[in-house]
Amino acid sequence: MRIRPMRPEDVPAAERLTALAYGTDRTDDWRRRWCDRIRHLLTTDPGGCWVADSDAAVVGVAVALRRDLLWVLSSYAVHLDHQHRGVGTALLDAAVGYGAGCLRGMLTSRPDHQALRRYRRAGFTLHPTMQLTGVVDRSALPAVDGVRVGTAADLDLVDSVDRRVRGATHRPDHAFVMAHSTLLVCDLLTGSGYAVVAECGVARLAATNRAVAQRLLWAGLARTTPGSPTNVRNLTSDQEWAIDVGLAAGLRLDLDAYLALRHMRPPAPYVPSTAFG
Ligand SMILES: CC(C)(COP(=O)(O)OP(=O)(O)OC[C@H]1O[C@@H](n2cnc3c(N)ncnc32)[C@H](O)[C@@H]1OP(=O)(O)O)[C@@H](O)C(=O)NCCC(=O)NCCS
Repeated sequence: MRIRPMRPEDVPAAERLTALAYGTDRTDDWRRRWCDRIRHLLTTDPGGCWVADSDAAVVGVAVALRRDLLWVLSSYAVHLDHQHRGVGTALLDAAVGYGAGCLRGMLTSRPDHQALRRYRRAGFTLHPTMQLTGVVDRSALPAVDGVRVGTAADLDLVDSVDRRVRGATHRPDHAFVMAHSTLLVCDLLTGSGYAVVAECGVARLAATNRAVAQRLLWAGLARTTPGSPTNVRNLTSDQEWAIDVGLAAGLRLDLDAYLALRHMRPPAPYVPSTAFG
């Protein structure tokens, strides 16, 4: 077994392996999007993408990205038949090594006790998270002013908000994310912010104050397909502004998993995305 940089031809095997390790049954569309995301990260962060190779088969994967001085882990799994042999530790060491020089680290963890063990032992602080799920009660939607659909012309605003709220932009990921989701922006005298609305729900949101964040979340929930289930995930207790909106919109609140952070507090008001932090 050796740990080596991921190559584009490893992506389909990495997709299968992560689906098996996470126990998720991905649809064809989801599978395609997963592969597209990893190919995107292979382009932006080739030094952060690693596989464990055993007799020319991919048995483990770790994908990390660096945005300014923030390191983010995007995917991490070892094939069930190869776990408990040190493969996961070696992969995480390689991915963390890519973050050398970064001041902060962030990842969203599944509630997997073995993954949590690895993250804590690598020095991350584990913050339990909640999620809002369900069908939005459209009769509860308020009229929201000041929020509009964003374009490429708004990306400097997005970067400024990201820098202020979490200390790092998502700049290399904008084109990829916007191809798959809708950007909402709010730019008022009192504050600014943005939200990324994907098929599954509000996938990321940042704002310079809670009132703007709440406007954006209401606008994001209003854009979800009527009658279809939606979600807002990765909410630590710092995001009560989001929990209050979700409950008022008729969504239910449950435990989600963990936000694992190194050398930083949970950014707020902020909804981290699972894939890009
Ligand atoms: C999390 C995960 C990647 C860990 O992978 P793994 O290969 O089992 O991890 P390791 O083998 O390195 O570590 C497990 C333990 O085995 C030990 N170990 C056993 N044999 C070993 C050997 N020969 N060499 C080194 N370590 C060994 C490790 O020291 C470690 O113990 P420790 O926690 O006391 O240090 C794996 O459990 C997984 O894929 N989980 C499901 C997917 C998932 O949830 N991923 C996270 C997404 S957020």
